Amino acid sequence: MKPGNDFILAPAPPGEAFPLLGSLEEQFVFLLHFATRAPSTHNTQPWKFRVSMDGVEVFADYTRRMPVADPGGREMLMSIGAAVMNLRVAAAHFGYLCDVVYNHSGSSEEPLASVRLTPGVVQSPEALHLASLFGCITRRHTNRHPFLLSRIPSEVLERVSGLAEGTEVIVVSSTEGNRNGRIAEVVSRGDEQLMGDANYRRNISAWLHAHASSHVDGLPAQAFGFDGKLVMIAPWAGRVIDIGKIRAAHDKNLCLEAPGLIALCSDDGVPQYVAVGELLERMLLVLTGEGLHTSYFNLPIQVPALRMQLQQILGAAAPVQLLLRVGYSLSEPVQTARRPLEDVLLRA
Ligand SMILES: Cc1cc2nc3c(=O)[nH]c(=O)nc-3n(C[C@H](O)[C@H](O)[C@H](O)COP(=O)(O)O)c2cc1C
Repeated sequence: MKPGNDFILAPAPPGEAFPLLGSLEEQFVFLLHFATRAPSTHNTQPWKFRVSMDGVEVFADYTRRMPVADPGGREMLMSIGAAVMNLRVAAAHFGYLCDVVYNHSGSSEEPLASVRLTPGVVQSPEALHLASLFGCITRRHTNRHPFLLSRIPSEVLERVSGLAEGTEVIVVSSTEGNRNGRIAEVVSRGDEQLMGDANYRRNISAWLHAHASSHVDGLPAQAFGFDGKLVMIAPWAGRVIDIGKIRAAHDKNLCLEAPGLIALCSDDGVPQYVAVGELLERMLLVLTGEGLHTSYFNLPIQVPALRMQLQQILGAAAPVQLLLRVGYSLSEPVQTARRPLEDVLLRA
């Protein structure tokens, strides 16, 4: 697909249109508006980009890693994978051939991914599929509200699981009440253990904001279910009050009532985390296109014994990396801010 009228109709960042007459670098920078719409753990946006004539280099920003909740950078690397997928989708939509070379040394000095972008090339079926997801980038949001009980068509779940074909990631979906009940138990134990830990709460509260409008990263307290006046004290409350039991009961219910759960599983390692993040975002965009909403239950995955239990319940051949809740919702998810591009661009 070559740049044509199509992209003029596409959702561009407010007040901006694709710089058709701009330099290649300007066009690549424009694509980054969409890369940065990716989900990231606690909206830390742990990425940096360097733009050149050839394309974009994607770096991990280790200063944004969560030292207690994500000491190994597992969720940080998955977040970067999600941003790479959005970059692929936007590139395909605007008519670029996109070739990604990964560097898995884990060094913060080297790019995790070098994305070579070539304009005006005939697109493969794979690129056409990615391009078709473009409109979903700005519509996708994490939705932590309870979902409707309506069932998810099995065809949709099969299609989403099929996206893992040819990757190192295994996707297991579950709509079975009995199994989801056992998963809900593990989710609630993870919440109780971690949210009952003051160090853990201190780490995540640093990314929770009462006044979301004055922040370009982190999570508005409303996104975590704080309402009315409670919003004002949420960051403080999260730090000092043991909310383990409350959170556990809340998430257990959400998990029990979820029409579907989806787990992404893979071995541990830098390449696998990036691959899981890419697949995650592709799945989320497809689900968004189907009118479905998603949120995460990741605390049990951060506790080794609970992670193993989850893997056993799911019958997965590899450790669980992400656990998602999927369903339909009439409630609008709270939207999260993004840093301006100047903050994430490295000068060449
Ligand atoms: C790797 C990863 C892990 C996440 N874990 C959780 C989680 O455990 N609980 C949660 O509520 N949201 C989780 N999220 C969602 C982020 O909080 C969310 O993506 C971020 O706040 C940006 O909001 P948005 O997804 O609506 O754009 C996770 C996202 C990613 C990419």
